[in-house]
Amino acid sequence: TPAKEAPSGNDTPRGVDRRLTSYGDPGFSKFLRRTFLASAGLDAEDLSRPVVGIVNTASDYTTCHRDMPQLIEHVKRGVMEAGGLPFVFPVMSLGEILTSPTTMLFRNLMAMELEEQIKSQPMDSVVLLGGCDKTVPAELMAAASADVPAISLVVGPMSVGSYKGERLGACTDCRRMWSDYRGGRLNEESIAEVSQELAPTAGTCMVMGTASTMACIVEALGMGLPFSGTAPAVSSQRLRLAVATGRRAVEIAVADRRPSHLLSEGSFRNAAAVLAAVSGSTNAVIHLTAIARRLKIELSLEDIHRIAAGVPLLVDCKPAGRNYLPDMHRDGGVPALLKALEPLLDLDALTITGETLGEVLDGMTGPQPWQDTIRTLDNPLGPSGSLVALRGSLAPDGAVIKAAAASGHLLVHEGPACVFDSLEDLEARLDDESLALTPGHVLVMRNIGPVGAGMPEAGSIPIPRYLAEQGVKDMVRISDGRMSGTAYGTIVLHCTPEAALGGPLALVRDGDPIRVDVPNRTVDLLVDDKELARRRAAFAAPPLPERGWSRLYASSVTQASDGADLDFLQ
Ligand code: FES
Ligand code: MG
Repeated sequence: TPAKEAPSGNDTPRGVDRRLTSYGDPGFSKFLRRTFLASAGLDAEDLSRPVVGIVNTASDYTTCHRDMPQLIEHVKRGVMEAGGLPFVFPVMSLGEILTSPTTMLFRNLMAMELEEQIKSQPMDSVVLLGGCDKTVPAELMAAASADVPAISLVVGPMSVGSYKGERLGACTDCRRMWSDYRGGRLNEESIAEVSQELAPTAGTCMVMGTASTMACIVEALGMGLPFSGTAPAVSSQRLRLAVATGRRAVEIAVADRRPSHLLSEGSFRNAAAVLAAVSGSTNAVIHLTAIARRLKIELSLEDIHRIAAGVPLLVDCKPAGRNYLPDMHRDGGVPALLKALEPLLDLDALTITGETLGEVLDGMTGPQPWQDTIRTLDNPLGPSGSLVALRGSLAPDGAVIKAAAASGHLLVHEGPACVFDSLEDLEARLDDESLALTPGHVLVMRNIGPVGAGMPEAGSIPIPRYLAEQGVKDMVRISDGRMSGTAYGTIVLHCTPEAALGGPLALVRDGDPIRVDVPNRTVDLLVDDKELARRRAAFAAPPLPERGWSRLYASSVTQASDGADLDFLQ
């Protein structure tokens, strides 16, 4: 029997009889359930076991999840070994690359779908299988709201590719190689060869993009087993972790260990510390906020800024560093990083292992002297403050910049604005030499906030081709959108309130001076108040989408600083 931990006092029916409400007559409902489960080959012995739901987010459209079927088989084996009954069920899958206009538009839809599936079907615990960027936060949001015992397992990072002796990986190097191609430094044939090496195996992008950041955060929150964030997708360790996750899923079912018991303010502070130490994706700021809000835990942009200000950059992965997730894993993965961060963490935070974080770390070693991807607090890779929350007349409710991925010479910068109103506008005009842009211009992209466009990752506006050809690699860019966690540059994101709601970004005109001062945490539009009031009076909000999900989304989504969740789900 798996029942090592005392069952909780609650009297919810367990196993397949959980939430038995379908047909009014409970006896008949149970009879029907058992009849149809018999048709699936399940006998009374099977039906006496705790049920573990396993979320299947495999899809041909989500290439990062292509090995998930194999992972599912291993999770199922673990569940059965521990005496549970596994039920695999599909949930919408969000693949970053093939989903338009942006997976962010659907994160809350996936969260809502999964929450309802967890609540409406019998399961005593759930294994959250995900990996590609939005899948992990969507699953954590769903699990938090459904509040059924849950454990996360990501598919793991891809292995690293190579081209002419240089290591390559998705997708920081995709961007670098593409801009080399745009700048004429790489020819047609070479870029085609490179495209075969950037994503060479199954798994998620192996730089510290959103997927890797969220995978590390899953471990930091205590929601996944130690080492499960970074073990390579193709490794046998990942399969062993899948088996162990399945076994643990049965134990948390029996112990009724729910997300609301496990996740605390301390868990989120630990996650924010890891986010800062890896110089993770700015998207994680929005996701962490959204997950915390589902649990009624207060985590503000200011809190994340404050934590980041006290945590140096410790992990040497692209885009802020040189290496890749498999290197971080070889250096001890998230447990080694947490060990290095130990004095800064809340060690009383609980973890899915049943132990506190402090107890887990007692058995772990920190980074060793011969390793170089994970550093120690006394020998960091970079200063603290890799993520900075900005405020100012251009973003009264906040904006974010990943300082660790920005150019030193642009951290304090004043320049004239060049404004783009939409992605179409950007595409039509960015490379038009008659705009006569200089490296000192500030590129402004608006109407790509949560309400405006579902917040696509269009904040990393490309450098205009003619400037790229002159060797310009970075310019100050500002938007109400997001950028990919794999991107780099001096890029101010998530300006709140967004332009579509009449935020100050909506009032900028070409040539207006804009000043960014990262050390002083400001982003300002240097136009006098009277003039701004005149422009504000003339502002007309763009129409909402006419129908369907986009309509519901745009009419209910909260601002980035509140997690961009739907207001009725928070
Ligand atoms: Fe799936 Fe990068 S595209 S993780
Ligand atoms: Mg991404």
